[in-house]
Amino acid sequence: MSKTVRKAVFPVAGLGTRFLPATKASPKEMLPIVDKPLIQYAVEEAISAGIEVMIFVTGRNKTSIANHFDTAYELESELESRHKDRLLEIVQGILPSHVSCVYIRQNMPLGLGHAVLCAEPVVGDEPFAVVLADDLIDDGQRGCLAQMVKVHNDTGASVLATEIVPPQETSSYGIVDPEGDGPVVRVRGMVEKPAPADAPSNRAVVGRYILNAGIFRHLAQTGKGAGGEIQLTDGISRLLRQEAVLAYAFKGKRYDCGSKLGYLQATIDYALKHPEVGDDFEAWLKRRFGPAVIT
Ligand code: G1P
Repeated sequence: MSKTVRKAVFPVAGLGTRFLPATKASPKEMLPIVDKPLIQYAVEEAISAGIEVMIFVTGRNKTSIANHFDTAYELESELESRHKDRLLEIVQGILPSHVSCVYIRQNMPLGLGHAVLCAEPVVGDEPFAVVLADDLIDDGQRGCLAQMVKVHNDTGASVLATEIVPPQETSSYGIVDPEGDGPVVRVRGMVEKPAPADAPSNRAVVGRYILNAGIFRHLAQTGKGAGGEIQLTDGISRLLRQEAVLAYAFKGKRYDCGSKLGYLQATIDYALKHPEVGDDFEAWLKRRFGPAVIT
């Protein structure tokens, strides 16, 4: 019987250079999709998967993330005195009371594997999720992580969310060597950002993982890999030699909000279904580009 997934690790220490100058003084995880920062979508997905402890592995210039999930007394009393009840509700509802946040500093930019290893003292000996907030996933239901927790509960194995990418894009992802092509298959091997000619498949890992605690032992022994960084992919490659690691073809649409194009696509799709501005935005798009713009 596997233990419940109660904790999620959010590596948020990265510099976000692809969004400069927007990310010069504020974290890329705080970029909004319409009116909510990326990190809040990620935390909401974790809450919806039953996770109660959010562990942020942060770096310099990331205090706004901690502030976002903290109480803002001045703002709240201001909204209260102005009777802005709906806004007050939004601000107070960011984090349900049963959820807690822990912040750990990754004091050296040594890579994603190192960031996850930094969370070990808080995670301890239990399975946990890793969520990369710049992959925004919409499944129209409880979320990608909830799907993965179910696979983990059924199998006790570590689970990686995967998606088929165009062969020429393998060098942007961790690529798995899958045993077959079913929706849930065992991973035989994994390579970080291989050139298309070296890729074992075009099934890419996206930013959602459920990992058993054994990963920490392997990460501690993992040296620098692709890009001179300690890669989570390399730690997982070691783990899968000892225990089952599954590739899971999640249901839903992923937006790569770490790229400008993916960020813009997410903004349009989320704006169109936004309860406050969706209808007006759709009407404007149709006026601007013709009725066929929305299918
Ligand atoms: C990281 C991982 C990579 C994974 C990707 C998913 O890369 O190292 O294996 O496929 O996230 O978004 P990054 O995008 O941080 O370079």
